[in-house]
This record gives sequence, structure tokens and C-alpha cells, in this order.
Amino acid sequence: MATTKGKPSIRSALSATKEAFTGIAILSAVSNVLMLVSPIFMMQVYDRVLTSHSIPTLAALSMLAAGIYAALGIIEILRSKILLQIGRRFDETLSQPAIMATLTALPAGREGGSPAPLRDLDQIRQFMGSPGPIAIADLPWIPFFIGLLYLFHPLFGLAVIGGAVILLSLTFCSEILLRAPSKRAAQMLANRWELADASRRNTDTIKAMGMQGAYAKRIQDAHDLYTQEGLRSGNLTATFNGIAKIFRLALQSGILALGALLVIDQLTSAGVIIAASVLTAKALAPIEMATGQWRNFIAARQSAKRLRETLDLMPPETAEMQLSAPCRSLSIAGLAVSPPNGDAPIVQNVSASLFAGQAVGVIGPSGSGKSTLGRALVGAWPVAKGTIRLDGAELTQWKSDELGASIGYLPQTVELFAGSVAENIGRFSISATSEKIVEAARLANVHDLILSLPNGYDTQVGAGGGTLSGGQRQRIGLARALYGNPFLVVLDEPNSNLDADGEEALTSAINSARQKGAIVVVIAHRANMLKVVDHLIVINNGAMTAFGPRDAILSALKTKPDEARRTG
Ligand SMILES: Nc1ncnc2c1ncn2[C@@H]1O[C@H](COP(=O)(O)OP(=O)(O)OP(=O)(O)O)[C@@H](O)[C@H]1O
Ligand SMILES: [Mg+2]
Repeated sequence: MATTKGKPSIRSALSATKEAFTGIAILSAVSNVLMLVSPIFMMQVYDRVLTSHSIPTLAALSMLAAGIYAALGIIEILRSKILLQIGRRFDETLSQPAIMATLTALPAGREGGSPAPLRDLDQIRQFMGSPGPIAIADLPWIPFFIGLLYLFHPLFGLAVIGGAVILLSLTFCSEILLRAPSKRAAQMLANRWELADASRRNTDTIKAMGMQGAYAKRIQDAHDLYTQEGLRSGNLTATFNGIAKIFRLALQSGILALGALLVIDQLTSAGVIIAASVLTAKALAPIEMATGQWRNFIAARQSAKRLRETLDLMPPETAEMQLSAPCRSLSIAGLAVSPPNGDAPIVQNVSASLFAGQAVGVIGPSGSGKSTLGRALVGAWPVAKGTIRLDGAELTQWKSDELGASIGYLPQTVELFAGSVAENIGRFSISATSEKIVEAARLANVHDLILSLPNGYDTQVGAGGGTLSGGQRQRIGLARALYGNPFLVVLDEPNSNLDADGEEALTSAINSARQKGAIVVVIAHRANMLKVVDHLIVINNGAMTAFGPRDAILSALKTKPDEARRTG
């Protein structure tokens, strides 16, 4: 599990990379000091070689400079590589929690958070590998260069301080002006993906009813909004970049002119003005580069914030105790269930008690809350009030993977995952064996059906189970629910796509599961499903109105025809 000791967070990911960041700081220090080679070399050439006309001096200076440049090159490569490593470490620490967050419906009252945690992680990693962090690591060295310029002549120092202030104001403007558009762009990108994903899953419907044009326009509109927002911040960045670049060049020439004045007044040497110009460029380059990268920096920062919020919202894995798999009872007391977004309860007042080998039918009209109850029983939706206990322990007391092995769930809309039929039945578990998969298929009476598929158990089903028929999908979904002989099996309208053979197979599957000691919950519309259950829960309008032995409930309903009609 990802969430073992302490919740993984951006902070823990950062502390995992602390040493690497120290390395970056040290390399930046060495690099910035060695960078002085360029102005010193120029000064020496102008003031020493050109005046003495000494070739050996020039050769010695050149060799020395070449050596230092080689060292600088190595440092630059090292800095970039360390940053890539930081990105990788960051990713290693956070990718699993981000994937878990992708798979988890976030709890009540969520604000912010990320619609796509992995995309946010990509954004952070990409920024780590870009020139942005190097520019930021160089920013603290600006005063060093300005100090040296000041030593050459205070006027140089003052001129460059003025230049730095103006360039930093540009960076500050980028920060202020790009923050909101960057946030909007991320939201619009998420909207566009959501629309596009939904349409990919429903291409048949879209094609059949001539919705292509209309739906394409919806996606196009979302796409346009996103690109316009990107264009707007791109334009701003381009303007700031242009100004910063030209301003720096102009300031460099200004320093030359200032130097020339000082030379004319015999206050400094020709070599110094060249060196001053180079130092000016070096002092201002990080700000110019940072301005250019600020948009990506903001995007990465916002991604980090969303990811942090998402990870903070992740329910902690509270279960510490190793519980043995449940095998005796299911008891529901005063249960109310809200959807994961924390809205008001959809179904309330459910209390029922069942023992191994029993089966309960859940009946009620459309929209009354049957599926909602089913989702809570399997732990997919949170309990808003009351309790659901297996062998006396609440569902939250189990580690979710361990509990999952004791639960079988066939949702109302069966979706299989891209992969083979065998992998789907075996729940993609690495410990799934052929024997267990075939056993589940036989229990669900779907073994022969699977053998008749083109590649048997190895038949690949597309995303959503695309290549199979509705009935085939439902029956393979039943085998997946029965895989590993789970104790609690919840089947949500399991016969909605089945023919007579399929229903017979389903009935015998439910009976075998009961004989093996399972508790089976069958959510049903069609009356013939009621033959396989011995208890009934009646739900009306979001509340349980009856629970008890099947025949007693049915005869009570017969004496109240109104209720019977409403419960279907
Ligand atoms: N994710 C959700 N968020 C908020 N409300 C929901 C959500 N899913 C369903 N509902 C609402 O909860 C109510 C009960 O839905 P549920 O799916 O449990 O009904 P049902 O009894 O299974 O109906 P059916 O027989 O049609 O399957 C409905 O009014 C529905 O609009
Ligand atoms: Mg339903």
C-alpha cells in the first residue's frame, strides 16, 4: 500500500531530495565564482597582453581559461542532471500516492484538489528538468556580481542595481498577471479532457444519433477556451521576455558607455569596462531567464498545491490490526449513505442482520437508493451515519485491499477493464492463479461461454469490456465478483442483461455461493430473482421500509397493494 507510515506529502518528497538540493546550491556557488573567469580573462587580455604584446602570456592565460571553462561545462551538466534526478526522486515518492488519489473518490467538503493528480505530478517533474530551477538557484548570486561591479566603480554598481530592480519588477508583474490565467488554463484543460474522455466512451451513441457535430462543437469550444487562455499568458510572457532581453542588452551597452566616460576621465582602464559589461550580463541573466520561465514556475507551483490538497484529502489508512477474513455475519444498523461528495444522505434508516449462507433481496422503485446501499455495503461509498459490520468489525477497520478480497461486487453498469478475460476475473491480482480463475468462472457458470470466445480466457476485452456483449460482460462480471470465494457478495441487478440460460446460471451461482458460506445481497427489479433469496429489504424514497424473511415481507406487501406497486 502507498499509505503506510505517515501520509506521503509534497513535504516528504521535498525532504527526500534535500541532499540533492544542497548539491545544487554548492554547484551553483562554485559555478558562479568560476564564471568570473570570463571578465578576468578579458581584463588580462586588454590590460596586460595588448599592452605588453606578450604571446606567451596570452597562451598561458588562454590555457588557464580553457581549463576553467571545461570545469564550468562539467558543473553545468552536473547541475542539470541532479535536477533531473530530483524530479525522478520526487516522482518516485509521489507517483504511487498520486495514482491512489486517481483511484479514490475524494471525501466530503473537498475544495480545490486535483482532477488529474498524475498530470500535476508530470507538470512538477517537467519543471524540475527545465532551466527554471537553475535560474532560480542563480538568483541569490546577483548581489555578488553587483558587489564586484561596485568595486570596479560605484557608478557601475548603482547602474546595475537600477537595472536589476527594473527586471525584477518585470518578474513580479509576470507573477501577478500570470497567476490567475495559469489556474484557469489548468481548469480548462481538465474540462476539455473530461469532455473528450466521455465522448470516447460513447462513440456509438454519438454516431447513431447524429450528435457528432454538436458534440464536436462542445469539445471545440472547450479546446478554444483552453488555447485562448494559453495564448493570453503566452503573449504576456513573450512581451516580458522581449522587454527583459532588450533591456539587458541596452544596459550592457550603457555600462560600456559609462565605462568609456570613466576611461576618458582616466578613472578606470579599458579592460575594466569590458569586464564590467560581462559582469552586468552575468548579474542580470538569471533574472531574465527567471522571467522567461516564470509561467512554467507558476504552473508547477499550482500543480504542487493541487496535489498537496488532494493528498491531504485522501482518507488515511486507519486500519492497523490484522483481522482475519470475515465468515459469520453482516449487520447493518441505523445506516445512512451520502455520495462521496458529501451531499445529503440518499438512503437512510437501513438496519438488517444476516448470517453466513443467507441471501437478501433489495427491492424498491427506480431511484429509491438500492444501488446506493449496495455501494456502501461494499465500502465504495462512505457511511454517513450508523454502521456496517462484518463479524462485528466495521468496514473501515480492515485494510482496504484485505477487505476487498472478502467482497464480491457486480455493479449495475458492468465495466470490464482493458486486458484479458482471465485478468479481469482474477481482478488483475499478481497472485491470481489459473485454478482460482477457472473456479470462479465455473461458479458463475460462465466457463463454457468463455471457452467459446475466440481466444478463450486470453480473449482481450477493450476498455469498458467493449468487445463483449452486454450479457457476456455481466456474466464475466459475476465471475469477477465470485473470484476467491468472497464472504459478502453484492449483485446490483445481476440479471438485467441475461437470457433464460443466463438467469438459470445466475441462480445456481448464487446458491453455490450461499452453500460455501457467503452472504449474498441481490438488488433486483425482476420478481424471478426473489426465488433465490430468503430475506428482503424494501426501500422506498431513500429509506428502508421493511426488512425480514422473504415470504413474510411479500405477504405483507400483498395486503398493502399500494406499497407493492411502488416497490415494483
Ligand atoms: N453520485 C451521485 N451523487 C449524488 N446523487 C446520486 C449519485 N448517484 C445517484 N444519486 C441519486 O441517488 C438516488 C438513488 O440512486 P440509486 O442509483 O441508488 O437508485 P436505485 O434504487 O438503484 O435506482 P435504479 O433501480 O434505477 O437502479 C437517485 O435520486 C440519484 O439521483
Ligand atoms: Mg440501481
